[in-house]
Amino acid sequence: MDMEQNEIIISISKNFDEKFGSKPLVIRSPGRVNIIGEHTDYNDGFVLPAAIDKAIYVAIGKRDDNNILLYSKEFNEAHKVKITELKKCEKQWANYILGVTAQILKRGIAIPGFNIVLDGDVPVGAGLSSSAAIECATGFALNELFQLQISKEDIVKMAQKAEHEYAGVMVGIMDMFASVFGKKDHVLKLDCRSLQHEYVPLKLEGIKIVLLNTNVKHSLASSEYNTRRKQCEEGVELIKKHHPEVNSLRDVTMQMLHQYVAPKDEIIFKRCKYVVEENIRLLSGCEDLRNGDIKSLGKKMFQSHDGLSKEYEVSCKELDFLVDYVRDFPAVLGSRMMGGGFGGCTINLVKEEAIEDLITEITAAYKQKMNLDLTAYVAKTEDGTSVVS
Ligand code: GLA
Repeated sequence: MDMEQNEIIISISKNFDEKFGSKPLVIRSPGRVNIIGEHTDYNDGFVLPAAIDKAIYVAIGKRDDNNILLYSKEFNEAHKVKITELKKCEKQWANYILGVTAQILKRGIAIPGFNIVLDGDVPVGAGLSSSAAIECATGFALNELFQLQISKEDIVKMAQKAEHEYAGVMVGIMDMFASVFGKKDHVLKLDCRSLQHEYVPLKLEGIKIVLLNTNVKHSLASSEYNTRRKQCEEGVELIKKHHPEVNSLRDVTMQMLHQYVAPKDEIIFKRCKYVVEENIRLLSGCEDLRNGDIKSLGKKMFQSHDGLSKEYEVSCKELDFLVDYVRDFPAVLGSRMMGGGFGGCTINLVKEEAIEDLITEITAAYKQKMNLDLTAYVAKTEDGTSVVS
């Protein structure tokens, strides 16, 4: 844990003490990157994320009554609700916490009131899963505070449900899984169907993960996300008529797509083709990583971006600009949009010695072309959710 993270822990504890007059339990839950495997999680496919050194912190303490008192340092906003009257509110950050609490109650587990102070350094809207990190931190915090004996895997599932029910986005399981199960210096190869996972060492040897944040989040993001999900399901339905054993795009081959989907619907075909190919890319990209062939992995990242942009159509002009800009840079091995799309970050594998110059150059170019400020981070991998004080 670095200096900056220690400072957050000290300041959130102090803040909690000032507000509620006691020492809190502090939980850290990280944001995530994803090397390759985008929009595959809700299609029963594979993903390759890692937890990073940017995290959400939840300071939590018990109350004697049945009130929930929440405070977000970032938004300088508070929210109060009785646990017996739990419902969605207009503050999105609070909904992530309330959504997880609702999942606990839904399981028939009775808990008393509690206080929470929320802080962190995961940029909101950057596609680094700050919302999943809030949900996982909350689930972990309530589990620890009230000794609920909920397994890590169930915390992940409850966090995902919270996002469905309190934020209205039908997200897959990748973000929560990465936040809870991440491991320093490793990526997580997760089979989203069985939830079996293995840790693959992230040996980049002189190459670093550079995140370039477009600083835009187009409003289409959540509605289009849900639409993509439906389009994939429609593709599966078309195939299922001929192959009843097919339950998701995980079971689908390119041949099936050509035979049963292409003649019926061009758009659905494009969407499904991207997903089927992305799973193949991920599996061989994982082998590249094991073999230390970052060049080959990087090529697949560019292909992944092209699929996301042209076939899955979840990119935007800002993301495309950033990826196209680095395409011919010898020091950039791979680049692609990351996460749901329509804004947020690109993930880039860049030779260490070239990072500074690249950031200076692309920041100026982005400003000139888009009249927007670019933010760059060099991301390090970190462990998943834990109690930090
Ligand atoms: C968002 C969702 C994830 C995943 C990605 C796309 O981050 O929360 O579940 O679907 O988009 O890969």
